[in-house]
Amino acid sequence: MRDPSLRRSYTLFRAFLREQTEPEHCYRLLARDAADQVERYVPLTGAVVCDVGGGSGHFTEEFRRRGAHGYLFEPDTAELTARGPAPEGAVVADGYLLPLTDGAADVCFSSNVLEHVADPQTFLSELVRVTRPGGLIYLAFTNWLSPWGGHETAPWHYLGAERARTRYRRRTGRPAKHTLGENLFAVHIGRTLRQVRARDDVAVVTARSRYAPFLAEAIPRLPGVREIATWNLLLILRRLP
Ligand SMILES: C[S@@+](CC[C@H](N)C(=O)[O-])C[C@H]1O[C@@H](n2cnc3c(N)ncnc32)[C@H](O)[C@@H]1O
Repeated sequence: MRDPSLRRSYTLFRAFLREQTEPEHCYRLLARDAADQVERYVPLTGAVVCDVGGGSGHFTEEFRRRGAHGYLFEPDTAELTARGPAPEGAVVADGYLLPLTDGAADVCFSSNVLEHVADPQTFLSELVRVTRPGGLIYLAFTNWLSPWGGHETAPWHYLGAERARTRYRRRTGRPAKHTLGENLFAVHIGRTLRQVRARDDVAVVTARSRYAPFLAEAIPRLPGVREIATWNLLLILRRLP
C-alpha cells in the first residue's frame, strides 16, 4: 500500500481497532507495512536486520520472509512467548546493552520501544553502535502527547497519567498495563528531533508521521501541532562513518 495514502491509513486504523480480538491480523499487517517502509531505503534480501524490543517476533518473521537475516532481541520473556514458543534464534537481551559487536547490523529496527525506556538517548546510542556505517536505523515511537500517548488509558492521559489509570481500573476492573515513569515514559517529538539532529554519528533520512494519510513529513515540522497530530513518529536514520 502506498505510504502515505488514505487507503493505507484506513486499513491500518481498522486493523488497530481490532487489535484485541484479531492481534495476528493487526501485527502481521503492521509488520508488512514497516518492512515496506524499510525496503524503500534498503533491499532486505541478505541484509542483517536486528529487531530490538521485538516482542513476540512479528516484524522479525516478516523480515525473514523477505530474505533478511532477522535477529530478535527482547528482554521480556513473557512478551517473547506471548504467541507460543519464542521464534527460532530469539535472544533475551536489553536494548541498552545488545550482545553484538559494533556495526553488526545493516538495519537496526525498533518499533514502539523508545517510549518504554527510561533513557531514550542511551537506548538510541546502542542502536547506533550496532549499526554498520551506511546502515539504517528504524526508530518509531508513540509520543506522550499523541492521542494514543497514554496507550490503553488514552485519551484520558491528557487529564493526567494518574487520573487516566484510575479511570481505567474503574472501567475495566483491572489495572492498566502501563504506569508513567515505570514502563511508559513521556517522550516528546520536538525534543527527540533536536537530540537526534545534534548527534554527529547519524543523519536523518526521514522524520515522518508513521501512519498519517497525508502531510506525513510536514506534520513533524510544526512545533506544538506535531506533538498531537503526528500520533507516532518514524525516524529513519543513516549511520555515519
Ligand atoms: C509496545 S511493545 C512493542 C513490540 C513490537 N516492537 C511492536 O512494535 O509491536 C514494547 C516492547 O519493548 C520492550 N522493551 C522494553 N524495554 C526495553 C529495553 N530496555 N530494551 C529492549 N526492549 C525493551 C518490551 O518488552 C516490549 O516487548
